[in-house]
Amino acid sequence: MLNDPNITTIVCCDRGIVAAFASMYFADEVARLIRIAVEPPYREMGIARQMIDWLKVSCYTAGITRIESNHRLKSRSARLFYRKCGFREHALRPNYYEDSETAVGMSMPLVPPTDASTTPSA
Ligand SMILES: CC(C)(COP(=O)(O)OP(=O)(O)OC[C@H]1O[C@@H](n2cnc3c(N)ncnc32)[C@H](O)[C@@H]1OP(=O)(O)O)[C@@H](O)C(=O)NCCC(=O)NCCS
Repeated sequence: MLNDPNITTIVCCDRGIVAAFASMYFADEVARLIRIAVEPPYREMGIARQMIDWLKVSCYTAGITRIESNHRLKSRSARLFYRKCGFREHALRPNYYEDSETAVGMSMPLVPPTDASTTPSA
């Protein structure tokens, strides 16, 4: 993924230790959040939401109008997290994963802010 020019990966570090990362694929009008993960000691501190907010600014800049993502049907925590971040469920994809588990397709429409800066902060 690091070598794919259409994929942006951001990494969150705490004194040189990787605490979290997120990877997003950018198409013409749609971006796909491929993976997002936070190490357990750093969870529920707002890090994943901040990474999504950072990627959203990149989406506005790129003219993206929607972010999509999938997660495993059994992953209740992922579903709750995505909902809290503004994603809504729109599809069930049976046998999506290698182990045949169903995926839940989620998406979030993007409306660029009219006043805020479109430059991601460090
Ligand atoms: C899902 C995950 C990325 C969330 O990361 P995080 O940094 O803890 O999330 P945040 O602290 O930014 O939380 C954002 C919101 O989601 C909620 N949330 C986060 N994890 C949650 C959970 N397990 N259950 C319920 N709500 C949760 C938070 O309470 C917060 O809501 P609030 O703003 O109303 O307080 C993290 O738990 C993780 O890495 N899980 C394993 C990998 C995974 O499932 N990735 C997603 C599918 S690829």
